[in-house]
Amino acid sequence: MGDSRRNSPTPPAFLSRLLAGRATTVLDRLPSAPGFWRSPVRGVRFTAVLGVVLLAGITVLFVTGLLSYAAYNPDLHPVNDKTPDKGLLGFYLFAWPTGPHWLYRLTQGLHVTLGITLVPVLLAKLWSVVPKLFTLPPVRSVGHALERISLLLLVGGALFEFVTGLLNIQLEYLFPGSFYPLHFYGAWVFFAAFLAHAALRVPQSVRVLRSGGLSESVAGDPLESPAPSPPTLSRRGALTTVGAGSLLLLITSAGRSFDGPLRRLAVLTPHGAAEPGPGPNGFQINKTAAAAGITQAETGEGWWLTVKGPAGEFRFTRPQLLAMDQYSAALPIACVEGWSTSDQWWRGVRLRDLAALAGYPAGAPGLLVESVQRKGPFRRVALRDNQVRDARSLLALSVNGEELTLDHGYPARVIVPAAPGVLNTKWVSRLTFGAL
Ligand code: HEM
Repeated sequence: MGDSRRNSPTPPAFLSRLLAGRATTVLDRLPSAPGFWRSPVRGVRFTAVLGVVLLAGITVLFVTGLLSYAAYNPDLHPVNDKTPDKGLLGFYLFAWPTGPHWLYRLTQGLHVTLGITLVPVLLAKLWSVVPKLFTLPPVRSVGHALERISLLLLVGGALFEFVTGLLNIQLEYLFPGSFYPLHFYGAWVFFAAFLAHAALRVPQSVRVLRSGGLSESVAGDPLESPAPSPPTLSRRGALTTVGAGSLLLLITSAGRSFDGPLRRLAVLTPHGAAEPGPGPNGFQINKTAAAAGITQAETGEGWWLTVKGPAGEFRFTRPQLLAMDQYSAALPIACVEGWSTSDQWWRGVRLRDLAALAGYPAGAPGLLVESVQRKGPFRRVALRDNQVRDARSLLALSVNGEELTLDHGYPARVIVPAAPGVLNTKWVSRLTFGAL
């Protein structure tokens, strides 16, 4: 054993030198090597600026998203509740008000337009911290493991919420299952991780932003490259580029919430620049009668409305409804996809007059509205008592001085102030007051 060692050409030292040399070059080329990421733009101040923008933006997104859920009245009736297993997550639900009449138009327009506008900021933020995702060892301690898991939920949650939201407004339902539970539960997971991250990083961000200019180095900056490439763009220039990207998205999406030439600027989404056509009925539609499977036969001469309540069951033809007291209300259509129209001049029978006729009792929970439509998630919806009793809530028969078109819900549709578009049922066939 002793002899063979003496005769050998010192393999361990030779081999380890060789391996060490090779290992250095291979490891240097991996994303986990400090010198791999060479952009001189990266730095904790750059990340902090993007973080502060996201702090404000994501908070508004979360709040407006929760408001959007409350606006469906999910606690009123199972037909409205798309996340029946939400448990404590519904703690904040409240009776959605009917005023101001543009409330949902504002909250949902803000939610979707802001979500689109923040995409460049989110991508820039992820780009700015990407070296941290590759640092080795991946886990150093139990505390570090927990932090990594929270980052997985943060990054995964952010990507999930943005991707599902953007696909939804593009009418691309590629994800398995219903959008509502996915986006709702995803929002809670993402926001919990977001809060944990913000609690750790906001103080750091404030400190570094107060201590010097954007282009100055921070001592021991965890994101600055140790071997930066020559700059082609300053940090200020990079932030301006991100801001310009956001501005471009804002210009090409905000128009979905306005009529006229602004809507034509909204080229990036369906229901944006699409021309709704001329005439009094020429305003945006979410689902056409054809797409909803509505036929002329179901809504023509043979159609009648059933009104049911403690006083009994009544049937009305359209001429009979037209013979009742008619009222007008100027209300918008505001869709869950974030687009909306300006106020349209609706005319028809007040829901509260039909309620009185049906013997709707004081303090009753509300009204169940059913449509001729046989497929789709909102063909039956419940409206709350405050919505039934509002003098502007109508069973509309005409709009802007003309009979409703089939696409806008002929022979009769519900229109309620401040309610999401999906609660404004088209092609109504039955109203059940009181017993929900
Ligand atoms: C959509 C929201 C956000 C996502 C997806 C996100 C993602 C990340 C990731 C993956 C990291 C690297 C891991 C780490 O070091 O913690 C990071 C670092 C950082 N984040 Fe965020 N972040 C978000 C929001 C924020 C907010 C709101 C702030 C503060 C206002 C912030 C400030 C920072 C800072 C300063 C760092 C660098 C920490 C360091 O390396 O010393 N981030 N972020």
